[in-house]
Amino acid sequence: MLNIKYELTKNPKEKPDFNNLGFGKYYTDHMFVMDYTEGKGWHDAKIVPYGPLSLDPAAMVFHYAQESFEGLKAYRTPNNEIQLFRPEKNAERMINTNKRMCIPEIPVEDFVQACKALVSVEKDWVPNVDGTSLYIRPFVIADEAHLGVRPSLTYKFIVIASPVGAYYSTGINPVKIYVEDEYVRAAPGLTGFTKCGGNYAASLAAQTKGHDLGYEQVLWLDGVERKYVEEVGSMNCFFKIDGTIYTAPTVGTVLPGITRMSCIELLKSWGYTVSEERLAIDDIINAYKNGKLEEVFGTGTAAVISPVGTLRYEDTVCVINDNKIGEVTQKLYDTLTGIQWGKIADTMNWTTKVEA
Ligand code: COI
Repeated sequence: MLNIKYELTKNPKEKPDFNNLGFGKYYTDHMFVMDYTEGKGWHDAKIVPYGPLSLDPAAMVFHYAQESFEGLKAYRTPNNEIQLFRPEKNAERMINTNKRMCIPEIPVEDFVQACKALVSVEKDWVPNVDGTSLYIRPFVIADEAHLGVRPSLTYKFIVIASPVGAYYSTGINPVKIYVEDEYVRAAPGLTGFTKCGGNYAASLAAQTKGHDLGYEQVLWLDGVERKYVEEVGSMNCFFKIDGTIYTAPTVGTVLPGITRMSCIELLKSWGYTVSEERLAIDDIINAYKNGKLEEVFGTGTAAVISPVGTLRYEDTVCVINDNKIGEVTQKLYDTLTGIQWGKIADTMNWTTKVEA
């Protein structure tokens, strides 16, 4: 159990209009910070006023990108309680990322305690408007000043929070996805399964190309054969073909999404067959041509459940379900958001309350 020291701000900010939040534009009054020193471990957990960090320009994170991050949300329920969705799963995933990035692990209970402590201090920042939440961004950076390439001897674990609305400006309306066949995001043995900033830096060129062509996101193909679908920029991807629901296996090149995992559990509990076998883009295009590609949707903490209305691969443009949200996509959206916002019973035991 962390012994957290509190230094609260004397100048709280004015809150933004909760009806018009967008994504990642506003930050709360405080942040959680904890330091790591080789030989001493994690120490000095504190909540301090939100503000710029003072780092040595030689801090290793700037040069060799040794860092990890997570994303989860706090939701306000109709009873005015605040709850988190499966935060221990984010903590477990950060442990896996940190192992791969040679970053010291943060115990699950300390990660969850840090997130809960920050949300509790920032309870008035958890918005009360439909579809809004407080996005929590825990991250670790290597802050030792050193230019030789090796793991840093010191780190900072920081948690910040941002009140958010929908990730896509289109809201729950279907997004347009471009299948990327030039750049790759991941290959076996690399860092595709981790949540590290480098994965996202490497994705920007393809995202920019997709945007220029009029698409919101790109769907990545596997890095070896460029044949099998993997994931979309900020979400995992599901395909309903002739009644069966497919999503890429999380075998090292795909991010093990917590929304993805929760959707698979819900779908199976409703009796759907969910296949996590690799699925070739050619099979998806053929299914479309044969009228069997019934629904496509993305899942993610930021994106929630996002229907895909258009999928373009090479010269084929697939318009899915008449560019309308599909039945399964809608049911998943209603159930998952119902549980997250406390509007329906949490029979899966996925939520955890924050003492406010
Ligand atoms: C999330 O869904 O929480 C993400 O981290 C995706 C993206 C905003 C990087």
